[in-house]
Amino acid sequence: MTTLVFLDPVHPAGRLADAASPAILATDQGVTRGDGIFESLLAVDGVPRKLQAHLDRLAASARTMDLAIPAAESWEAAISTAVAAWTDSQTPAAADDAGPGAAAAAAGETQCVVKLIATRGPEGANTTTAWVAVSAVSPALAVQRQKGLAVVLLERGYDSDIAARAPWLLMGAKTLSYAVNMAALRHAHTLGADDVIFTSGDELVLEGPTSSVLLAHISDDSGVPVKRLITPHLDTGILPGTTQGALFAAAKAAGWELGYGPVTPADLLDADAVWLISSLRLLAPVNTIDGAEIGTAEIRKALTDELSALLAKTL
Ligand SMILES: Cc1ncc(COP(=O)(O)O)c(C=O)c1O
Repeated sequence: MTTLVFLDPVHPAGRLADAASPAILATDQGVTRGDGIFESLLAVDGVPRKLQAHLDRLAASARTMDLAIPAAESWEAAISTAVAAWTDSQTPAAADDAGPGAAAAAAGETQCVVKLIATRGPEGANTTTAWVAVSAVSPALAVQRQKGLAVVLLERGYDSDIAARAPWLLMGAKTLSYAVNMAALRHAHTLGADDVIFTSGDELVLEGPTSSVLLAHISDDSGVPVKRLITPHLDTGILPGTTQGALFAAAKAAGWELGYGPVTPADLLDADAVWLISSLRLLAPVNTIDGAEIGTAEIRKALTDELSALLAKTL
């Protein structure tokens, strides 16, 4: 079940709404044009993870598309209301259907997905619609972390310098227009793969449809041991990943060398490990890219365990 809280000046703590009833006008430009922005974050035992980073990125996305959004305090209040209401709904007595959230709560840990959404509002009204939706974490994400992913490279259709040349494409903003990203995932599934890494027209590695890309080297070209993490440069128009950012900070403190792209497909194939990383999925190792194995199963698992432990400390 989903808990819904609208940001509403009349209700400083947010206005609880029934997620099973219609709540958005059919003329809302978020619905008619995908004209809006969002964030997805994880809350553990009622505490939203990396909240400031997500609120900062929401504000940056809003600036990119000239969208007025409520102040950070209003989001924080609505998030507290929504997470508390969702947590209450997961108590064994309340959760008749014993969904995945209830199962996690019974195991002593309460995790939920917190979505922040803001749209340009109904046509002609000049008001932003903003709400928080809280729901259970999909069990499929833990499976991805454990089993790893078969990934295909797919073209995004832009060169890596498009963001600076064409700001109207809103590159690097987390807009509601994710239909292309979802279509890319469906295309990957028809190819028998689990997920996608987008490449630019000039053949650089970008990001996944819902994740950042990370690669590791544990030895250099002459076999000397190193600990090096690399992610594609943000200039390529990708979304700045809050999870990649948190992991880089923790990895630096643990002695890893950090680098920002350019990353080519050959760099991915040459890496000891590659991951798709995001707030809900955390670190999911990439087993194969276009059918070619990345590193070895042992190295992938050892590095995933090491970096997941570092990431857990930051969350
Ligand atoms: C396109 C894209 N890139 C990267 C990410 C990873 O961002 P974060 O780590 O902040 O969840 C996401 C997350 O949904 C995404 O949609």
